[in-house]
Amino acid sequence: MKKIPCLDLKGQHQQIKKEVFDAFEKVYENTAFSGGPFVEEFEKAFSIYTNTKYTVGVNNGTSALHLAMIALGIGPGDEVIIPANTFIATAWGVSYVGATPVFIDCDEHNWEIDPSKIEKAITSKTKAIIGVHLYGMPFDIDAVASIAKKHNLFFVEDAAQAQGARYKGKTVGGFGEMACFSFYPGKNLGACGEAGGITTNNENYYKHLQSLRNHGSTIRYYHDEVGFNMRMGGLEGASLSVKVKYIEGWNNRRREIAKMYHEGIKNTKIKMQTQPEWADSIYHLFVVTCEAKNAFVKYLTDNDINPGFHYPVPCHLQKAYAHLGYKKGDFPNSEYLAEHCISLPMFAELTDLEVNTVINCLNKF
Ligand SMILES: Cc1ncc(COP(=O)(O)O)c(C=O)c1O
Repeated sequence: MKKIPCLDLKGQHQQIKKEVFDAFEKVYENTAFSGGPFVEEFEKAFSIYTNTKYTVGVNNGTSALHLAMIALGIGPGDEVIIPANTFIATAWGVSYVGATPVFIDCDEHNWEIDPSKIEKAITSKTKAIIGVHLYGMPFDIDAVASIAKKHNLFFVEDAAQAQGARYKGKTVGGFGEMACFSFYPGKNLGACGEAGGITTNNENYYKHLQSLRNHGSTIRYYHDEVGFNMRMGGLEGASLSVKVKYIEGWNNRRREIAKMYHEGIKNTKIKMQTQPEWADSIYHLFVVTCEAKNAFVKYLTDNDINPGFHYPVPCHLQKAYAHLGYKKGDFPNSEYLAEHCISLPMFAELTDLEVNTVINCLNKF
């Protein structure tokens, strides 16, 4: 049997190649390469999918976070609370506006932001909390939102990994002031190229974000503030309009694979992310931990299973944030996860045979 990769995008893109190429042709014929009708079509479809009033398409998920911080008026001297165990881009948006990311630890079992640790991190400078639906699983939104409300803080969802995940039955993206999505090709809903988006139910934020991504302009060549060129490309928008029609099916297949992993993996040396009752994950990643990580990784590789690592260094220990003065031991759960995480193969096109091969292999370790 051939190697089982952690992620392979080829199968999915072969299935929809004709439809995507037809969509590309329309963009080409209309020369609508930057922003424009094909992006707007996707924005509408994504708002329907996330049950939000507005979507603003941008050039990637990092820009989405950056613009969200600007739209909330966050700047130098402000602090924003985020989990230490996330992809670094959650923190970049905060740093880009001159504010300081304040990291907190995750829950020991579900690996999501731990609401019980938020209040201790709040100071007079705190302006916002960004929760991350890590690995595609919603964090405890009600708990985080109620702390934000109590302390008069903004609340933003980093939903980069969670297109279509549900919290207490409701699709993520409309719970906070804004939600930031990545449509990086490897995401569950990934563009053919780089792309991102921000969803909101607030018309003022929506209008401001539209202007910010377009050089701070609503009327061509009139610039109301310093803005950015962060528009989504037409080809990316068109590819996303095709793919958004399939996302529910692909997410459901991931849920099926996750169920097979949950039920099939009996090896007590391997620990999985617990599934809180509020969460309906879309399993962007299927991460496990193992005490004997190095031996486990070698074993998997020897058995033609390619593992991934998400993420080997928590944000507070990254060199980029050395000046903030965090040290090893500050956030034990995030650090444990970073040191012991292994991502198992997870993508909708995995066959049952491949999933069972992974399960049998894990059970023999
Ligand atoms: C949690 C999280 N936030 C933000 C981003 C940034 O998105 P992008 O890569 O599209 O800039 C990512 C993407 O990997 C992510 O996983």
